[in-house]
Amino acid sequence: RPGVAELDPSRLNVTVTQSPKSIPPVETLKFGQTMTDHMLIASYDPEHGWSDPEIKPYGPICLDPASSCFQYSTNVFEGMKAYVGPDGEVRLFRPDLNMARMRRSAGRVALPPFDTDALLTLIQRLVQLESRWIPNIQGYSLYLRPTIIGTRPNLGVTASDHALLYVICSPAGPYFGAGSARQISLLANVDVVRSWPGGTGGYKLALNYAPTLKPQQSAELQGYNQVLWLLDGKVTEAGAMNFFAVVKQDENNWDVITPPLDGTILPGVTRDSCIALSAAHPSRTTLPHLPETLHLHAHERTLTMSDLKQWHAEGRLLEAFTVGTAVVVTGVGRIGYDRTDIVLPEHACGRGPVARALYERIVEIQEGKFEWEGWSVVC
Ligand code: COI
Repeated sequence: RPGVAELDPSRLNVTVTQSPKSIPPVETLKFGQTMTDHMLIASYDPEHGWSDPEIKPYGPICLDPASSCFQYSTNVFEGMKAYVGPDGEVRLFRPDLNMARMRRSAGRVALPPFDTDALLTLIQRLVQLESRWIPNIQGYSLYLRPTIIGTRPNLGVTASDHALLYVICSPAGPYFGAGSARQISLLANVDVVRSWPGGTGGYKLALNYAPTLKPQQSAELQGYNQVLWLLDGKVTEAGAMNFFAVVKQDENNWDVITPPLDGTILPGVTRDSCIALSAAHPSRTTLPHLPETLHLHAHERTLTMSDLKQWHAEGRLLEAFTVGTAVVVTGVGRIGYDRTDIVLPEHACGRGPVARALYERIVEIQEGKFEWEGWSVVC
């Protein structure tokens, strides 16, 4: 709006910590547990717009208990990662997609808009300052959590015209634990849905995650790693990840299938990357370990439990895998549904051939070892 300030990287104030933390050994890192030294923060109010952004020592924030984020869940976030490759450069992976999605998510819960290029520039400044925290080991990275919360201190159910934007960083290894080369198991949930037509499943809102926690606990108690989310028998997502199945047409033609973005599916950056890379094999690139005689056909199409059962019975369901920023690409070994398990072939490396090829190529791009379509952005 005219007269209110935009988020402006040229007005950034940086206060460097006087007591830098010691970095724990990578083998002790658990996802999301360790935070770095600094955070980026800016606030919004309707009179002034965005405040001057600040990078300052990581620490608690003080909020009014009546804040909209506590009362009505006006919280949106992103998951991104910073990588350092063998050339020592610090990189982000397709960060423009995260910025655009975050702006869309904020709009969905009536939080203020922000300049996506400005936020990306600020994140790059933060990542440069925190670069000593990026583990220089394949499969490890610095997880970034940009967040916007509504801070209007009022119990009326109206849009929060005050907001706080912050970005925190956490060094991370494999989401399911170091050395976990195993395939994960999924339990299809027929009682609870994660998303529905016209709902918020296609946005990255914190309020999508809270209702999944109890079903997740229940799946674990039944011996499964994650929930497979369904809607009227159609697969939507798996845990907090997108879902893919690989189905054989014949020896040289395999379909790589994921549900379409119909509003019930989060438009994942890794999801989009897997579709694009699958579609490119072998005509535009050859994915690691896959023969050039094999053609992958990427499809965004409805995927039902009946489809999975039928393909499995026909011996055509070659692989299933889950993808996301946190997990990258993780193989699925077993899907519980209707009191039986669909059991998929086991692979020593934890991923079937397509999941392995996509995982390796995506990590190569993220670490700057393979150039592809400008996806890897140097900070
Ligand atoms: C991600 O993959 O980055 C996610 O946001 C999923 C989860 C950690 C919330």
